[in-house]
Amino acid sequence: MATGTSTSLIPAQLTEPELKLLQALIYQECGMFFDERRTHFLQDRLQRRLRECRLDSFYSYYRLLISKEGKHELARLLENLTVNETSFFRNKSQLDLFHKHILEELLNRKNAAQDHFLRIWSAGCSTGQEPYTIAMLVADALAYYQLRHPRAAEAVSPKPMVPAPWKFEVLASDISYQVLRIAQEATYSETQVATVDYSYRLRYFDKVGDRYSVKAPVKSLVHFDFHNLKTEYLPQRNDVIFCRNVMMYFDEPEQKRLIEKFARCLNPRGYLFVGHAESLLGLTDKFVLVHRNSGTAYQKVEEGHEATN
Ligand SMILES: C[S@@+](CC[C@H](N)C(=O)[O-])C[C@H]1O[C@@H](n2cnc3c(N)ncnc32)[C@H](O)[C@@H]1O
Repeated sequence: MATGTSTSLIPAQLTEPELKLLQALIYQECGMFFDERRTHFLQDRLQRRLRECRLDSFYSYYRLLISKEGKHELARLLENLTVNETSFFRNKSQLDLFHKHILEELLNRKNAAQDHFLRIWSAGCSTGQEPYTIAMLVADALAYYQLRHPRAAEAVSPKPMVPAPWKFEVLASDISYQVLRIAQEATYSETQVATVDYSYRLRYFDKVGDRYSVKAPVKSLVHFDFHNLKTEYLPQRNDVIFCRNVMMYFDEPEQKRLIEKFARCLNPRGYLFVGHAESLLGLTDKFVLVHRNSGTAYQKVEEGHEATN
C-alpha cells in the first residue's frame, strides 16, 4: 500500500496546523468559513472523507486535495460541507413581496421599455424547490399581467405558460452536483410538497405514484448549472437574484465581495433577496432595503446614487 494510506480503524487525529491548512483551503475554494462554532462539524466531515479515501493523516488528505488528481475529491469534500436545507415557498412574507409588489413594478418598467425578457437567478438553489417556486410565481404573475393588459390577436390555445411577448427563465445554480441532479429530476415526496398549496399542486405538479413531479412546462423554464459563488465568472444581466441562506456560511469580507459581484450581475434597479437571517446592513452602499409587512429585499441603486446605509 502507498505511503500515507491505511485500512486501520483508529481515527486519525486532526492537529491544529492541519485544521488551519484545511480551513484556509476550503475558504479559498468556496468562501465557506468554519469558525469555532462549526469546527466540530468540519472535523466530522473531514474524518468521513479521510476514511473514504483510506488515508491515515489529514496532512496526506490536504496534499491530495491540492494535487491535480485531487480535484474530484475536493468537489466531493465541498459537497459534504454544504448545508442543503430548503423548501417550496420558503419565507412566505418575502415571496409575497416578490409576487405582489416587486414583480408588478418590474413588469411595468420592462413593458414600458419594450423589454420583455425577464431573467431570475437562484444562486445556491440546492435541490430545486426555490427555483421551481419562483417559476410558478412568475408564471402566475405573467398570466395575471396579461389579463389586465390584453394584446390584440392573442387567442392562442392552450394558453402558454409564458404569454407572448414575454420571455422568462430562471437560472438555478449550485456548487454541489449532487443537489443539481436531484433538482433536475424534479420529483418530490409528500413531505417535501407539504408547503405547496393545493391550487399550486394541481396546476404545476403531476402525481406519479406517491411522488409529485414538477410539470414539464414549469421545468422548461428553469435551467440548472454549476456555479461556485467564490469565482468571478457569474451569470450577468439578471433582473432578480435570490441568494438565500448561502451567505450566512461566509465570513464578512467574503459576504462583501459576493454582494459586489451580485451588484455587477444585476440589471439597473434589479433586486436581491437574501435569507431571513441574512442582511446587507453595513456591508454595501450599492443597495437599498425594500420592505412590505415582514418581507424584505434589496434594490440596486443607480450608479452615482449610492446609498448611505
Ligand atoms: C441552505 S441551502 C439554501 C437553498 C435555498 N437557497 C433556500 O434558501 O432554500 C444553501 C445552498 O448553497 C450552496 N452553496 C454553498 N456554498 C456555495 C458556493 N460557494 N457557491 C455556490 N453554491 C454554494 C449549497 O450547496 C446549498 O445547496
